[in-house]
Amino acid sequence: MNVGIIGSGTMGSGIAQVAATSGCKVKLYDTNTTALDKAKAALDKILNRLIEKGRIDEVEKNRIQSNIEYVDSLKSLSDANLTIEAIVENLEIKKQVFFELEGYVSDDCIIASNTSSLSIASIASSLQNPERCIGIHFFNPAPLMKLVEVVPAIQTSKGTLDKSVQIIIDWEKTVAVAKDTPGFIVNRVARPFYGESLRIYEEGIADFVTIDWSLKELGGFRMGPFELMDFIGNDVNYTVTETVFTAFYFDPRYKPAFTQKRFAEAGYLGRKSGKGYYDYDEGATKPKPKEDNNLAQKIFDRVLVMLINEAADALFLNIASAEDIDKAMTKGVNYPKGLLAWADDKGIDWCVSKMDKLYDEYHEDRYRCSPLLRKMNKENKTFF
Ligand SMILES: NC(=O)c1ccc[n+]([C@@H]2O[C@H](COP(=O)([O-])OP(=O)(O)OC[C@H]3O[C@@H](n4cnc5c(N)ncnc54)[C@H](O)[C@@H]3O)[C@@H](O)[C@H]2O)c1
Repeated sequence: MNVGIIGSGTMGSGIAQVAATSGCKVKLYDTNTTALDKAKAALDKILNRLIEKGRIDEVEKNRIQSNIEYVDSLKSLSDANLTIEAIVENLEIKKQVFFELEGYVSDDCIIASNTSSLSIASIASSLQNPERCIGIHFFNPAPLMKLVEVVPAIQTSKGTLDKSVQIIIDWEKTVAVAKDTPGFIVNRVARPFYGESLRIYEEGIADFVTIDWSLKELGGFRMGPFELMDFIGNDVNYTVTETVFTAFYFDPRYKPAFTQKRFAEAGYLGRKSGKGYYDYDEGATKPKPKEDNNLAQKIFDRVLVMLINEAADALFLNIASAEDIDKAMTKGVNYPKGLLAWADDKGIDWCVSKMDKLYDEYHEDRYRCSPLLRKMNKENKTFF
């Protein structure tokens, strides 16, 4: 199969590696030839590291590399069966590229976007044949992260969806099909992990390290929310939250936190700037958490129930199936357990009473219990 990748940055080069590894002939295109050179050098480094670790041999390295051609004209992608665009997150620029691309490729070429935040329907509208357009959303780093969200727009044909799902499965990835709504599954359902933790901090209930400790210790999360925000970058994570908040017509559930905005504004971006919620300078010591089990339980329960509520509401609004929502959170952001399975474990009555308690305390719409949880509780149902 011939695959065209548009944009050779972080995501485009990772997706090219995935497709080439699975045996596709890939053409990786970028307007910036320096970006192409960088992508080529980066792949060489990655493959050498895989050789050092004994995961691949020299023959495999050559096979993968010979499957990728680096090109600087969009027209070169004319023989593609599938194109995946991973350029700058700008709707007008993406639409322009899609419009031009459609003039070069065959009628049955699938034209996909890796966008994180734009609507697939709006991108598809730039095409003469929007039925062939779909969202294929990888996570960073694409070669390592198992999950891919496949997002059909309202214009997308069933044939395009089925073919896309099959291709991604053939690339040995886990597919979750998501509705074309802001944040798809992961970037929507994960918001309370950050947002509720920031709120707990802002209320003065605990400091960053204690909140991180509580979620790792009681929840089994690999990284605490503040460690993760520092890892992702406070600028990037803040922008995702603000984009989701705006796209949901300012639903208070997704309201960004001033704490994070100020950190981003100050340049305290996290690991990449050497300082975020923690200090990453050489020799810096990490503060110690307050290891109080009662406090940890209170923090963990509050963040977990907000995550469960968000996952339940995504199911309620048919964003994805229960299986795909749980798959998305375990494979896309490495949660130790799917949130809906977690709800079953805790008990739906526990979830409803925790949400109602938060609502009683704050009287904020942010803490409204999902109608689905309430209904399931009345009917004594579980998710699985
Ligand atoms: N970085 C992530 O964690 C992540 C995760 C999932 C999805 N995404 C999405 O993937 C896309 C790319 O993100 P990224 O982080 O790889 O960006 P990036 O900045 O690393 O790379 C973008 C590349 O696109 C090139 N480019 C820009 N305009 C172009 C054009 N008109 N034609 C061809 N090439 C062009 C740039 O030269 C650059 O090399 C965005 O839509 C983003 O929302 C990013």
